[in-house]
Amino acid sequence: MDHMTKEEMRSGIKRIRITEEELQAAVRKAGAQLSAEYEGKPVLFVSILKGAFVFLADLVRAVDIPCEIGFMQAQSYFDGTESKGEVEIILDLAQDISKYHVVLVEDIIDTGRTLKLVAEKLRERHPLSLKIVTLLDKPSRRKVELEADMSLFTIDDWFVIGYGLDLGEYYRNLPYIAEYRIFDENEKN
Ligand code: IMP
Ligand code: MG
Repeated sequence: MDHMTKEEMRSGIKRIRITEEELQAAVRKAGAQLSAEYEGKPVLFVSILKGAFVFLADLVRAVDIPCEIGFMQAQSYFDGTESKGEVEIILDLAQDISKYHVVLVEDIIDTGRTLKLVAEKLRERHPLSLKIVTLLDKPSRRKVELEADMSLFTIDDWFVIGYGLDLGEYYRNLPYIAEYRIFDENEKN
């Protein structure tokens, strides 16, 4: 995407769907729940870059037990609408996960295809346990069977931006979740 002006950035924001306050309240609650669930256990929070980096940063600050964090980045290839695909891990964890309870932290589950393949790859490494926590869930878009163990917000089929989520790499820095305004070439001036 060409460099965006501040004005263009503003006009892409159709409406705020989840405010900063709503995000923070839900993240605090999730952090408290996870703290109770994993107390006394070695836990590794794994964020899938780039979208989940903001959520992970807030989530771990809402957790008050000892924990470690790790990052992964995946590139997926799917042929058309088929649910079968390949996922390449382009950035892998440094940790040997067989010693950890792993919590996969995602920004959004859309078709579910990428996360399903990443979770399968991690299960092959035999973590003590594996759970999926997602900030947002768009169940109406699912193409494969995949359910998060914890989902903070279920949303309709909107294209959302902010709080880590992007459109062409922009908007990740918005402190809230907004619906993106898809431009009609005719109305753009
Ligand atoms: P999927 O579940 O394999 O289809 O892919 C999920 C990924 O697609 C997420 O991690 C996001 O990077 C991206 N994605 C899906 N829906 C949205 C959206 O509404 N806004 C921004 N990114 C999205
Ligand atoms: Mg993305």
